[in-house]
Amino acid sequence: MNTEQIDRSVTRIFKAVFPESTNHYDTLFGGTAMALMDEVAFITATRFSRQKMVTVSSDRIDFKKPIPAGTIIELIGTVSHVGNTSLKVQVEIFIEQMYSQLREKAVTGEFTFVAIDENKKPVAIQRLP
Ligand SMILES: CC(C)(COP(=O)(O)OP(=O)(O)OC[C@H]1O[C@@H](n2cnc3c(N)ncnc32)[C@H](O)[C@@H]1OP(=O)(O)O)[C@@H](O)C(=O)NCCC(=O)NCCS
Repeated sequence: MNTEQIDRSVTRIFKAVFPESTNHYDTLFGGTAMALMDEVAFITATRFSRQKMVTVSSDRIDFKKPIPAGTIIELIGTVSHVGNTSLKVQVEIFIEQMYSQLREKAVTGEFTFVAIDENKKPVAIQRLP
């Protein structure tokens, strides 16, 4: 694997957990977390290959800790495997307290993307210099 291409495509998104994205337990709604994870994974895959990428599968997602309202989250996408026409992106969500340095991992998951051509058919992933 081209580690430089992987390092360059690592993608980070920060969000404030405001009430519109929480459930009735006052924690981040799981569906919202998954949508954000798919988005950061998609951006990671696209920045890695600079090709049209579609999500073909999401592997196991582990919600290890609830994410309270009023915290900051950081989502990090990292390419973990490159196949022929597909690649996998590992996504982690970290919780950061707003008013202290406390930071802990809350969610992990993996998403698989396929590069497609203009006919929406799988095409080889580009290895960029
Ligand atoms: C993605 C898509 C083009 C793949 O077409 P396909 O004919 O199934 O592709 P193939 O069987 O040739 O597989 C292509 C690659 O995907 C991988 N793949 C296919 N299905 C997979 C799955 N469920 N999980 C993991 N990898 C999968 C294959 O292993 C192969 O990888 P490789 O080339 O690196 O070895 C097609 O399934 C599709 O259009 N799906 C809908 C995508 C979509 O709408 N996503 C949501 C919006 S972005």
